Amino acid sequence: MSAPEPIIDHGHGDSRLLVRSPYTTSFAHMGEVYVYHDLYGYILKMSPDLLAFLDEFKAPIRPDEVCRKHANSFEEQTPESFVGIFLQFGCLIKPDHDQVNDLWEMIPVRGRWNVWQREKDGGLTFYCAWGDNPLTKLTLTPDEARVWWSIDGEKTLRAIQFDEQVPPEVVLGVVKKLGHHSVQALKLSALGLRFYKKRPQMKPQYLTSTMPYRPYVPGADGVLGELPKALEDYFSPEGYYRGEIEDADQQFDHEETTLAHLFRIPHPALGGRTYGQAVIDALMKKERVPDGELKVLEIGGGLGFMAKAVVEALVAAGRKVTYHIMELSPVLAAAQRERTAGLPVTVHMGDVLKDAFPDTGYDLVLANEMIGDLMAVKLDHARFGLGQGEEVDDAKFQAGLAASGLAGELVKKYTVPIGDAPDPFYLNIGAWQLAERLFGVMKPGATAWITEYGELGKWPVLSTHLDHPELSIHFGHLTVVARELGFETDYDFVMDLIDMRRDLEGLQTTRSYFRALTALLAERGITLEKVGYTREMFVELLGDKVQPGEIGEIAFDRIEDRLMGLVPHEFKAILLKKPVTVEA
Ligand SMILES: C[S@@+](CC[C@H](N)C(=O)[O-])C[C@H]1O[C@@H](n2cnc3c(N)ncnc32)[C@H](O)[C@@H]1O
Repeated sequence: MSAPEPIIDHGHGDSRLLVRSPYTTSFAHMGEVYVYHDLYGYILKMSPDLLAFLDEFKAPIRPDEVCRKHANSFEEQTPESFVGIFLQFGCLIKPDHDQVNDLWEMIPVRGRWNVWQREKDGGLTFYCAWGDNPLTKLTLTPDEARVWWSIDGEKTLRAIQFDEQVPPEVVLGVVKKLGHHSVQALKLSALGLRFYKKRPQMKPQYLTSTMPYRPYVPGADGVLGELPKALEDYFSPEGYYRGEIEDADQQFDHEETTLAHLFRIPHPALGGRTYGQAVIDALMKKERVPDGELKVLEIGGGLGFMAKAVVEALVAAGRKVTYHIMELSPVLAAAQRERTAGLPVTVHMGDVLKDAFPDTGYDLVLANEMIGDLMAVKLDHARFGLGQGEEVDDAKFQAGLAASGLAGELVKKYTVPIGDAPDPFYLNIGAWQLAERLFGVMKPGATAWITEYGELGKWPVLSTHLDHPELSIHFGHLTVVARELGFETDYDFVMDLIDMRRDLEGLQTTRSYFRALTALLAERGITLEKVGYTREMFVELLGDKVQPGEIGEIAFDRIEDRLMGLVPHEFKAILLKKPVTVEA
C-alpha cells in the first residue's frame, strides 16, 4: 500500500499546485458574493459555496484534491469546471507567479464614474468612495498620469509604454494602482473597444460595471463568515423604514433619491416650479382638485418637501387645506414636522397597511414613490402548475392559490392575471392592499396620485443597488385591482403629467460617484447637493472655483434618460378616482 499523497504542499515545488490569486478580493451584498480581480477588473458573481470552494486554494494545493472533496458540492456542474473558470479569470494561479507580468498585451480601458483633479505638477488625484467605504484619494505622479492620458481603449500596455517612453514598472504600477478595487478607474480588455462599437451586446459586462459593495472575508478554515442579510429576509421592507433610517437627509441624498427630491427646488425643467407645485398643476389641469376646503392625505412623506410645496401651491390657489401625513419612519416624521412647521400639516406615525388612517373623507391622496416599499411576495410556477404545457390544470392552479396565503386570496378576489408570469415572479400585494384601504377613506369624486418606478405590462423587477431591495411596480396588476374595487384609473408617465422638459441635459451620477465628487468639490468650498443639476446649474455651481478641464469626469445626458442616479422616464403615475356615485 502506498502512502497517501499530501493534500497541501507548502514547498511550492509541485507543478500541479494552484493557489488563489492575491489580486482577488471578495465582496458581499444581500446574500450574494462576488470576487473582484484587482488587475483585470473582472467581477464574478457566485454563490457562497463556490467562494468557499475558491477559498480552499488559500494556500497552494492540488486542484484534484479539492475537487475530490467537493465532488458532490454542486448540483449540475463538476468542481473541475469551476477550477477551469477560475483559471480563465485569473482567480487561480500557479504559486509564486506574479500575474502582473502577464499583462503587456492587454488593452487598458478606463472604468466608468471616475472622479479626478489635475495637480499643478502634471499629476492626477483620483477621489474614490465606493459604496459605503470611506473616501480614498490616490495620486498619480506626472509620469503615471501620462500613462493614464495615453489610454485610448485600443493600445496595449506595451504600446503605451513604447509611446510614452516611461519605465515598464511605471506602466505596471498604474495598472496596480488604478485597477485596485478601491479605485476601479481601469480595466483590462483582451480586445480594443472598437471591436464592440458595432457589437455592444458582446461587450463583457465587467468593462462597464463597478463594485460598490462591502468587502467580505470568509471565516477561518474555509467557513464562511456572516453574510449580509439575504434578499428574502427583507420582504417586506417596511421593517427597514420602521427601524433602520438613522439620518433623514442622508437617506434621500445617498440611499434613496426620488424625482420629488431632485426637483424639490424650483427647476428649469419644470418651468421654474418645484415637483410638488407641478403635481398640483397636473391635478388641477385634470380637474382633480375640488373647489372649497380640502382634506389631503400624504402617505410616506420623505423629508416633507412635497407636503410643504403642495400646501403652499393649494393655499396660493385660494384653497383652505387640512393636510395629514402618514409616515412609518420616526426619523422622517421628525423631518416632516420641522419642514412643515407653521403650515396646516399634521404628521401621524403609522403603517399605511396596518394602522388606522388619521381620518376619512379625503379629497386628495398622495403616495409618491412609496408603493415600491410596500410588501411583495415571491412565488414560483411549480406551486400553480404553470408553464408545464399549453393548458393550465385548474385544480392545481386553485390549490396553488389556496396555498399562497394573502397573495393567493388577492389574486383570486381581483382576478389578477398571472398566467404569463416569469418563474419565479413577484406580486406587489402591498400596493394592492393600499388601493383597497384607500377606497374606504376617500370621498366620492376624490383622486389618489400614486407614482413609482414600473410599467403597465412588465413583471416586477428587483433592484438591489440600494441598501434594501426594492421592486418595480406592475401597474397592469394594480389597475386590475383598482378597477375591481370600483376606481376609475388613469396611467401616464410622471414626466409628462408634470410637464417636465425632456430635452434639457442633466448631470449623471451614481451613489458612489456622487460621494466622491461631493468630497472633491467640498475641498474647493463648493457644496454639491442632491438636486437635478442641469448643465447650466452645474456650471453656475462651480463658478470660478474650478477651471475648465481641471476636474473630471463630468457627464451630462438628456434628463428624460438619466438625471443624477435616476431614469425619469421609468417613473409612472396611476391616478385612482373614486366615482361620485359608487355602485351599491
Ligand atoms: C422612497 S420614500 C418617498 C418619499 C417621498 N414621497 C418622495 O417622493 O420623495 C418612501 C416613503 O414612504 C415611507 N413608508 C414606507 N413604508 C411605509 C408604510 N408601510 N407606511 C407609511 N409610510 C411608509 C418611508 O418612510 C418614506 O417616507
